[in-house]
Amino acid sequence: MKRLTRMLGIEHPIVQAPLGGEPAGAELVAAVSNAGGIGILGAAYMAPARIAEVIAQIRSLTDKPFGVNLFCPTRWQRDEARIARFVERLALYHAELGLPPPQLPARFEEDFEAQFEVVLQAEVPVFSFVFGDLGRERIAALQSEGAKVWGTATHVREAIHLAALGVDAIVAQGAEAGGHRASFLGERDDGLVGTLALVPQVVDAVPVPVIAAGGIADARGVRAVQALGASGAAAGTGFLLADECPISPAYRAALLAARDQDNGLTRAFSGRWARGLMNRFSREMAELELPEFPIPNALTRPLRQAAAKAGRAEFLSLWAGQAAALAEPAPAADIVRRLAEGWPTSAS
Ligand SMILES: Cc1cc2nc3c(=O)[nH]c(=O)nc-3n(C[C@H](O)[C@H](O)[C@H](O)COP(=O)(O)O)c2cc1C
Repeated sequence: MKRLTRMLGIEHPIVQAPLGGEPAGAELVAAVSNAGGIGILGAAYMAPARIAEVIAQIRSLTDKPFGVNLFCPTRWQRDEARIARFVERLALYHAELGLPPPQLPARFEEDFEAQFEVVLQAEVPVFSFVFGDLGRERIAALQSEGAKVWGTATHVREAIHLAALGVDAIVAQGAEAGGHRASFLGERDDGLVGTLALVPQVVDAVPVPVIAAGGIADARGVRAVQALGASGAAAGTGFLLADECPISPAYRAALLAARDQDNGLTRAFSGRWARGLMNRFSREMAELELPEFPIPNALTRPLRQAAAKAGRAEFLSLWAGQAAALAEPAPAADIVRRLAEGWPTSAS
């Protein structure tokens, strides 16, 4: 049970789960690490040079361990007819916000190899990945630079697959989790096991420490996953209202109003299943045959950015987990302290 705190040399086995996009920044990560937990930077949407900058910023704010998270590259096909239909629908929302018609970007995603190289060179304490199989060579390269490598699984078969690659820990992401599903084997529903059922089965299946994620937003959730055999507890949504989390006022207001039944799974914003607060965009786009991830993600970016500025939550990807109503505004250090109350020091 103490394996995570010992592995990292941290006080509390409390993880601020990677939060890519709007919430990603150095202040939140560093504040969580300074409070004795560990903050993980969601860097997947950042250009390589930006990742290097933010890592340097984190290091200027803390001397404690922290992590960086990237998306493994996925195979995707470019379906021009689907792109055309998506762009046509998107144009209506652009017009409503006074934006020029949507343009196809020069690239749909960042260059993973370049991102990876920056993180490798930076010798980060923890590297975490989702959406697939990072490969033995990359895992070994990170480990030889001193990093602990965490893979993310949404069911037992994924956990066994990742353990066989040599990861140092597995994040077990239950169906309650906010944001994109980390799944990489099987169909959507294979990866929708709830945290309560998933964690003990993953703990039994793999020899490495397991970090539970999904629906944990206060000390009760932390206590529960400790009882299930987890070595640590990760919260994502529970940190979105932290003072250091740079989300837009419209997103913040939506989270403050969130109830347990307000969220669901949508592919509408990115082309990949993700859990968030349902809104007009996710409802109106639900029936459309979408291009594959990451194409919609790149195409909806201008709309999401303009909507954030205009305070129009109906066009924002309001990623949030099922425990969103438990999240409270507070300094990140207080959130860490409250979560850590669920994990008595003697047991960590
Ligand atoms: C706004 C938001 C952004 C996220 N971005 C990422 C990301 O970039 N990479 C990643 O591995 N997981 C990402 N996630 C998933 C979280 O790391 C984590 O698995 C999840 O938040 C845990 O469930 P919870 O939201 O119920 O705490 C994101 C989640 C949210 C809510």
